[in-house]
Amino acid sequence: MMRQVIELMQPRHTLIGEGSIREIPRYLRRLNENMKVLVVTDMGLVKIGTVKKVTDELDRAGVRWSLYDGVEPNPTVAIVNEAMDRYRREGCGCIIAIGGGSPIDVAKAVSILAENGGKIQDYHGVNKSRRPGAPIVAVNTTAGTGSEVTCAYVITDEKENVKMVMMDPNCLAYLAIDDPTLMVGMPPALTAATGMDALTHAVECYVCREATPYTDGLALEAIRLVGTALRRAVKDGGDMGARTDMCWAEYLAGLAFSNAGLGLGHSIAHQLGAQYHTPHGEACAQILPRVMEYNAPACLQRMGDIARALGADIQGLTEEEAARLAADSVRDLCDDIGIRPLHACGFSMDDIGLLARHAMEDTCISSNPVVPTEEEIGRILAKAYCEGLVVEAIRQHTGKETP
Ligand SMILES: [Fe+2]
Repeated sequence: MMRQVIELMQPRHTLIGEGSIREIPRYLRRLNENMKVLVVTDMGLVKIGTVKKVTDELDRAGVRWSLYDGVEPNPTVAIVNEAMDRYRREGCGCIIAIGGGSPIDVAKAVSILAENGGKIQDYHGVNKSRRPGAPIVAVNTTAGTGSEVTCAYVITDEKENVKMVMMDPNCLAYLAIDDPTLMVGMPPALTAATGMDALTHAVECYVCREATPYTDGLALEAIRLVGTALRRAVKDGGDMGARTDMCWAEYLAGLAFSNAGLGLGHSIAHQLGAQYHTPHGEACAQILPRVMEYNAPACLQRMGDIARALGADIQGLTEEEAARLAADSVRDLCDDIGIRPLHACGFSMDDIGLLARHAMEDTCISSNPVVPTEEEIGRILAKAYCEGLVVEAIRQHTGKETP
């Protein structure tokens, strides 16, 4: 039988660890000694001083730069056009994106437009550009999205009210940076949510239909690192060992899913985000244990691997018991790091039909190991909702506090 040829994708260079941002000028010089760069970010990161940490390094090295700090969550075509205008007006040749998903999304859009022309709507879909984009330095400030690793970006067409998903290897980063010194200021709730996003990437990728030996290794190690580091990073944001481990987990999980796929957890989480504005990682966490239980019969052995990677002792257990332990280990983690239950984020049982219907149309669903029905998705949501109510009642009864 002919084996399928697998193409592996990754950023051209990656730096992980404390002080990685100091190396940015050295990589820029390799491209062009005198090139001006456009720094793409959001106002929040300017205000808390994160952007200055990077631009100070540029100033020290004499790199010329211009700032675009107008990125907002769910970036629009108008924002991309603004950033693009600045890039052209200032005569830039490279983009440094500083942030979580949104600034990196905008940087990818500008990169493609800079070298391919036209308007960003022309690139909606898969592999739509012809030429490699302008070089991107993707500086990640949250340990979760994996955006610095992937070739995907999402831009909202505000006029048509469409979220355009672009998949394009021409926008892969020239340099990806995961520097834990930029993450120490992340508050516990954001650390918890983004960390659970990384875990969900790894878990979904490990059981997805397109998993390969390459993505299996990356995903399992990411799961193990989240299992040992996330509680510590939430409890003490200054724990550099935990922050560094979460950088690795985030990066490995990002590399894994961008070379395989995700699954039903993300399909449902996207709807929770759209309907209730639940932070993406938190929505993933709320639904992941139930999705794992739903998927388990199709991937029992792999669920056992996940349980073991999360530190559970599965010796002597049946495959079914080990799979249950995997989901329970994720539940315990959510509980320990203070993930809010579904009902605390505005979820209503009345919305189940709508959420399930839209989840069925989400692109991530095609990678899920089981093909779900709308009714099954509704049941997953209902169970997760009831479970959240029970957990909160027990919490109140025992007086256990949210971290
Ligand atoms: Fe995600």
